[in-house]
Parts: sequence; C-alpha cells; structure tokens
Amino acid sequence: MILVGEDPASAVYVRNKVAACEKAGMRSLRDVYAPDVDPAVVFKRIAELNADPTVHGILVQLPLPKHFDSEAVLESISPEKDVDGFHAENVGALMQGNPRFIPCTPYGVMKMLESANVPLKGAEVVIVGRSNIVGKPMAMLLLAQSCTVTICHSQSKDLAFHTRRADILVAAVGRAKMITGDMIKPGATVIDVGINRTPEGKLCGDVDFETAKEVAGAITPVPGGVGPMTITMLLANTLEAAERCVK
Ligand code: GUN
Repeated sequence: MILVGEDPASAVYVRNKVAACEKAGMRSLRDVYAPDVDPAVVFKRIAELNADPTVHGILVQLPLPKHFDSEAVLESISPEKDVDGFHAENVGALMQGNPRFIPCTPYGVMKMLESANVPLKGAEVVIVGRSNIVGKPMAMLLLAQSCTVTICHSQSKDLAFHTRRADILVAAVGRAKMITGDMIKPGATVIDVGINRTPEGKLCGDVDFETAKEVAGAITPVPGGVGPMTITMLLANTLEAAERCVK
C-alpha cells in the first residue's frame, strides 16, 4: 500500500486495510511518502513492487497530491497486481464483461445485494455519482446483471425525479446526508457509499439515515455498511491475484 501525503481520511483507510491484512494472515507493507515527494520516487517504488514475486497486490491510495499524474501512476502498476482494478486494462476488461479485478467498493456492493437476495433482473437502479472508483464500475456490474441503470451526477436536472424511480439507489457523491427520505421510493434498497463528516465531526453517509430508514425496504448504515465490504473485497482480490500466480 502506497500512501502519499497527510489526508487524514486516507490515512485511516490505509490503516484499516493494513489491519485487515494482519487479521487475515496476509503480509502487508505500507509505504508512506511526504506530500511533496518527487513522483519519480513513487514510480521507482511501484516498479520494484511490480518485479517482486513475493508481492501479489499493489494499491496506491487515492487521491494523490495535485503534482501527481494519477492516471500515469495507476497505469504504472502491473495489471496482474492491480487489486483495486483501476488500471485501464482492468477497467476495459470490466467494460467488456470479462472482469479480472473488480474495483473493491462496487464489488462489495454486489456481494451485499446478492447476500440480501435483492432482485436484480430488470430492476430500476439509480446511481448518484460518476466516479471511476464507484459510480462507473458500479453501473457496469449492475448492467451485467440486467438492471436498468441510470447514472446521476452534479449536473443532473431534478435528481429526486430519478431517485424516486429507483428500486435500488446507490449514493456515491460524497455530500453528507444529501439523499433524504422524500427522495426514496417506498420499499427501495438504499446503498450508501458516502463517508462524510458532519460539522460536529461525526461520520455520516450521503443518505440521511433517519428519514431514509422510514421509507426504504433495506438500507446500509455508515459507518459499518459498505466500508468493511470494500476492505473485504480488497483482500479477496489480493488472494485471487496470489492464486493466479500458482496456477
Ligand atoms: N480512495 C477512495 N476509495 C479508494 C479505493 O477503493 N482505493 C484506493 N486506492 N483509493 C481510494
């Protein structure tokens, strides 16, 4: 795991990932760099890790500082070790319907929907957020399960018009409590991917849980919902990477 800079949220995520590896009996290395590090240092380290046969998964925590070309960093990771699934080759494979590494957060959401037996075929899905990390891969995975998928974003007109149609609503925007109960179809499954802080410093999602839980058929909490699943799927992807090496 490579962490650049001092973003407190990123530091927490990386610490949780390291702890999960330890608990599962996986060796993990955590390289932390100063926010003003020369990108060449990080590229050199990634090249070393690419070549190290004892390393099966490489993760660069995002966001990177502004002086980094994030895309170039992600492309420098060997696609066989890209356990986040952010390399263009892996993004392309997912888009073509033959995923090799599925990005961890949407992968975790699919596992939650599966374990809760949420019907997917023909379901109206609305995803709020169009990021490469969540929104876009989430849409591909649900489309592959024959959902009708709508992606909304900051420029969408009348967001509530869309969200109220959703049998499954995925909120992945990063704005505290922006999805309120009146925007949810009664009985809908609500997946909250957001991790935000209230002005008082409390963790909260993109969904206003108190009003939403009165309307939704099922809803994931923050914290303790999607977050732990993201980490679980990171470990699953890493295990799979290791298994592919011995096949
Ligand atoms: N930043 C926010 N989510 C993620 C993630 O899933 N992986 C990485 N590497 N960075 C992130």
